Amino acid sequence: MHARITGTGSYLPTLALSNNDLVARGVDTSDEWIVERTGIRSRHIAGDGQMASDLAVEASQKAIAAAGISAEKIDLIILATSTPDFIFPSTACLLQSKLGVSGAAAFDVQAVCSGFTYALTVAEKFIYSGSHHCALVVGTEVFSRILDWNDRGTCVLFGDGAGAVILEASDAPGILASALHADGSHHGILEVPGNVCGGKVVGQPFVKMDGPAVFKFAVKVLAEVAREVLDRAGMAAAEIDWLIPHQANIRIIQATAKKLGLPMEKVITTVDRHGNTSAASIPLALDVAVRDGRIKRGDTLMLEGVGGGFTWGAVILKF
Ligand code: UT7
Repeated sequence: MHARITGTGSYLPTLALSNNDLVARGVDTSDEWIVERTGIRSRHIAGDGQMASDLAVEASQKAIAAAGISAEKIDLIILATSTPDFIFPSTACLLQSKLGVSGAAAFDVQAVCSGFTYALTVAEKFIYSGSHHCALVVGTEVFSRILDWNDRGTCVLFGDGAGAVILEASDAPGILASALHADGSHHGILEVPGNVCGGKVVGQPFVKMDGPAVFKFAVKVLAEVAREVLDRAGMAAAEIDWLIPHQANIRIIQATAKKLGLPMEKVITTVDRHGNTSAASIPLALDVAVRDGRIKRGDTLMLEGVGGGFTWGAVILKF
């Protein structure tokens, strides 16, 4: 029994803000600084009242259509987000309701920017066990809601969006290997240190980040987990057709590709257009490259992410 991706989909809110748009809105930055340090040129921002589940339903419907199934076939929904619609119920349940179906198991996964690699790996285990046969796996974020627009060290980096895949039981190989890790002792270098208590926000409801510390940590663990998952799959880096990394910073992506000996021609990048969409960035980049024809059936993909927690993970699969 294997678990194979049979359809992909994604959605970006209509409003796109360029770096110069941020400058025009009063952010103390410049297009030159953002492009040079991050590779980001533009990001999408959700409209007023547009929630993570709204983005997720658009991406999911496209993935369902691409897989050629009906939503009723889905028996498991796993949704990765750090910007849920509510404290509860889970955004996965709200998505299920918006898809007009019921009965499937549905829950959220919280692993920040590694969320999609976590969600996909969990879904694969359900399918591999034989308990479930058709999973909808989603990464969806409205990070713009948790940005402090006066903190130029973070607000220029993030964007909103959603990506989704249908993962089905299959006789043919799909997911070949995965590896997930966390080290909670590093929670303080990237966090939103706030909560709701007694009807009030306690702490800070905005992204706080030590950028250089995150940068160093990300480059180190992404290279390590890539090698680990290659070992588990019994493969060499040269056998990877496409690397689809979390889209946080082009310099992190380039450093990871270099450490693996992969040319940038084999790396899918959307960070220039999407910014960092956290748990949505990997499925968004995957869907972009499937729809523009670069990723083809039978290609070998490596997905990898790193994010708050700290968490990190990688998945190798036959598409
Ligand atoms: O999804 C995972 C989470 N996030 C990441 O992976 C992000 C990882 N970190 C990074 O990508 C980079 O560390 C950043 C892009 C966030 C920052 O780049 P950096 O090269 O590490 O810059 P820095 O934080 O060391 O700051 C250098 C300078 C500082 O000025 P001084 O002290 O040298 O005068 C900052 O105040 O750049 C300044 N700066 C800015 N200037 C213009 C910081 N942000 C900005 C900005 N525009 N937006």
